[in-house]
Amino acid sequence: MLKVFVVAGARPNFMKIAPIVRVARNLNKVSCKIVHTGQHYDYDMSQSFFEDLELPEPDYYLNAGSGTHAQQTARIMMSFEDLCLQDRPSLIIVVGDVNSTLACAVVAKKLLIDVAHVEAGLRSFDLAMPEEINRMVTDAISDYFFVTEKSAVKNLIREGKNKTRIHYVGHVMIDNLLYQLKRMQVDNGSDYSSKEIKRSNPGYAFLTLHRPANVDKRDSFQEIAEAINVIAGERPILFPVHPRTRNKMAEHEISLAKTVIQLPPLSFRESLYLWKDATVVMTDSGGLQEESTALRVPCMTLRENTERPITVEVGSNTLAGTKKESILAAYKRVLLRNPKTFRIPPKWDGKSAERIWSVLLQGAEYS
Ligand code: UD1
Repeated sequence: MLKVFVVAGARPNFMKIAPIVRVARNLNKVSCKIVHTGQHYDYDMSQSFFEDLELPEPDYYLNAGSGTHAQQTARIMMSFEDLCLQDRPSLIIVVGDVNSTLACAVVAKKLLIDVAHVEAGLRSFDLAMPEEINRMVTDAISDYFFVTEKSAVKNLIREGKNKTRIHYVGHVMIDNLLYQLKRMQVDNGSDYSSKEIKRSNPGYAFLTLHRPANVDKRDSFQEIAEAINVIAGERPILFPVHPRTRNKMAEHEISLAKTVIQLPPLSFRESLYLWKDATVVMTDSGGLQEESTALRVPCMTLRENTERPITVEVGSNTLAGTKKESILAAYKRVLLRNPKTFRIPPKWDGKSAERIWSVLLQGAEYS
């Protein structure tokens, strides 16, 4: 039996573990337990995702909570080490690039437990981004690299990784997206609180914003807000507000136009229900760049760089930068694009989790 811990801590992790856990349920040679580090803990940042994504309750909840990077990472490491000493897995699966990813990978590796990194090899080459450090450290010590796009293969090879450890499997987040989309075709969002908002704001744009580089400092946030307010003069903008952003908006006294409709953080399905039909998605999230690519929805990334260059290459994503003028120029360009010309990256087909388990079951030594 291959005993595996699947680790998740923050909102973008939950979408990625859902298909991995779903496929594992049908494998009789695998015991798969979910470890939730508690990095995100509010109902609408965590529990609502477990419900929407049909994830079972976590087997272990580590209760890490918020804090500085060092505090949060250290708390996760200490509790995860205790857990691994009590109930030792043969392998852990970590996903993405959040603090929980790095913390649990380091702990496992030092206990000589194998580490599989899902969404390995992505690089923004921007060390001011905490996620870039998390990605680099996790990849430095992982045993299995499951990659989503060809740039990641290149990056890992350049960093000296053994080719036989790199597996281009596609994207588990897209597995989840396609699965959820199918479910949504049945209920068509009939019970969503945002149904009326969607109906009464035709042509809307959908905005998410939470990167520290964009919202933590007043000047950067204000610059982006000015561009958003100009765009909001042309079309309504639906904006689910991340807790970090909500706090910073109040602290910096940022004011947004009335046609920027502020919403609480949305559940996975309610968010999908809104962005899938948006005229344009504006975001600084990594995941939404990829999800919008998979559904051919035009996306503007409010950042100077992306660790997901395939989304730009296939035509759906435009790097808009973070200055008012660059954002407005990108907005004009994006509206001229024809989504029919956007391509879907290879293997973003809903079968990535199956590919991952097939590699792990071949490679593992288990009895
Ligand atoms: C984290 C990830 C980021 C990911 C994002 C998605 C790292 C370094 N960052 O950033 O990569 O894109 O999650 O949301 O791991 N808060 C709440 N309730 C919660 C969680 C957070 O109110 O359930 C507030 C707290 O004030 C906290 C702040 O949000 O201090 C930031 O949370 P944190 O997990 O530190 O970072 P995120 O910005 O969410």
